[in-house]
Amino acid sequence: MSEFDFSFKAFAQQPFYKEVNRLLVNLSNIQPGQKVIDLACGAGTVTRLIMEKLQGARESFIIVLDSSSEALRLTKEELGQFKSNVVEFVQGHAEQVSQLVRDRVDAIFLCNAIHMIEDKKQLISGVASRLQKGGIFAFNTTFFDGSQLPETEQFYRRWMLRSLRILKRKYDLMPDRAEKVEARKQLTVDDYLELLHAHQLEIREHQMQKVLVPLEGWLAISQFADFVNGAMPKVPVAQASDALQQGLREVFEELQLTAVPRNWWLVIAARSA
Ligand SMILES: C[S@@+](CC[C@H](N)C(=O)[O-])C[C@H]1O[C@@H](n2cnc3c(N)ncnc32)[C@H](O)[C@@H]1O
Repeated sequence: MSEFDFSFKAFAQQPFYKEVNRLLVNLSNIQPGQKVIDLACGAGTVTRLIMEKLQGARESFIIVLDSSSEALRLTKEELGQFKSNVVEFVQGHAEQVSQLVRDRVDAIFLCNAIHMIEDKKQLISGVASRLQKGGIFAFNTTFFDGSQLPETEQFYRRWMLRSLRILKRKYDLMPDRAEKVEARKQLTVDDYLELLHAHQLEIREHQMQKVLVPLEGWLAISQFADFVNGAMPKVPVAQASDALQQGLREVFEELQLTAVPRNWWLVIAARSA
């Protein structure tokens, strides 16, 4: 298996994932004719939902950005049916959006990725600088301080314990816990609200969605390299992914689970000045 087999695609195809992202795109109220940036496009799932809203007007334009060339390739594939002259692909870091994009836009999306960005101040400041007055910043995440529900603590504990045992027994490997990266430190809702406010981004709407994630969803996120590296730092991704997936199957069976709920936070903020 190559590193590209551990892309975000498997998770992005899950029905619950499409649903929670569709909700955010609907909340954003973007309209045909608007100019939009989609930061950290991944496999292009949300980009496609955005395109569906923008189509029908000649002025519509979308800039799609990701730091990974493979993500841009997957997004191009996902957008196959849409006219290519309304889409511009940019490879680069979301934190550098103010240098990478010249024009101001009506909306900027950053879906399921804000938790991966190390310098969130630089990110939010760049986002604010690229929005027209009244333009909106829409983002969502299920990796923040508060995304794990208290009643699911046992699931996470057992999953990690089992996966670590499998990793040791099957591959004689152990993660390097000292490698916990800065970007994995999760912010609270209040931390995010403060950051937005400090950059003249005022909340229009924010809501917490409790999403039921079935076994297939957990198996799929355990096939995404960034998640796997975060859960088991410094372990080769193929072995870590295998241990996480086997651990999941065992814990779902042991606890007789059909799904594990998780909080997804959806935010629409508007540039006020
Ligand atoms: C979990 S996927 C989310 C994809 C998509 N937005 C969605 O909601 O389906 C995260 C994506 O963020 C990209 N990424 C991570 N850090 C980034 C950064 N600093 N700048 C731009 N893209 C980044 C990764 O390459 C990956 O494609």
